[in-house]
Amino acid sequence: MTKAAMLVVGNWKMNGTVAEATQFADELIGGIACRPSTHDLIVCPPATLIAPLVARFSQTSVRIGAQDCHPGVTGAHTGDISAFLLADCGVSAIIVGHSERRADHGEIDALVRSKAEAVHAAGLIAIICVGETLDQRRAGDALSVIERQLRASLPPTADARNTVVAYEPVWAIGSGLTPSVAEIAEVHGSISQILRDIAPALADTRLLYGGSVKPSNAGEILAIADVNGVLVGGASLKAADFLGIAASAPIL
Ligand code: PGA
Repeated sequence: MTKAAMLVVGNWKMNGTVAEATQFADELIGGIACRPSTHDLIVCPPATLIAPLVARFSQTSVRIGAQDCHPGVTGAHTGDISAFLLADCGVSAIIVGHSERRADHGEIDALVRSKAEAVHAAGLIAIICVGETLDQRRAGDALSVIERQLRASLPPTADARNTVVAYEPVWAIGSGLTPSVAEIAEVHGSISQILRDIAPALADTRLLYGGSVKPSNAGEILAIADVNGVLVGGASLKAADFLGIAASAPIL
């Protein structure tokens, strides 16, 4: 993956029945046929829907991703799914370190890093999430928290082709709140600088903003410096909204 095109990733979280996914796929495929998106599109459904959606989107440019993985390859880990098995299913990318996994499952940076390394070993793209809480932002610690998470969550295997970094302020997720344009620009500029400092191979890594992205604000967000796409939760569940974001051009 390169920075050439914007990347729009839908994260369905624990939502979506087989019937709903079928309807979504029909609407998305129809919508793109009428109005092709210039952005790269990835949909990350729950694991139950990965195989049918990989099959449904196989003749399209839409790729299917997963929301998490185990750091191992195979073995005695009841209930877990590895990046290797997800790759075998046709997945292209895997989200790791989402704040809901950090909160619900106590995932720490070291685990996120080993998961990202497993994603790379499986030949897939790791979408590594970082972001501050509201208390951390109010305390003026947002940039230092994000830098610490980023440095500790990035494996040595990361480069601009196999890694995407998503900045998702915890307080903006599902809340309808978003940081200001200046705040997003500040964080993305900082992440971009840190990546360049870590390794030249990371210089062109795509940076996504996530947190209450919807059709009405996507254009403004995509126009921010160092924003190369968006990670979309709630608004990715409805094909019309996802299409609206996929059709959004940066509003300069
Ligand atoms: P949201 O979620 O768009 O519903 O705020 C974003 C995310 O958690 O990835």
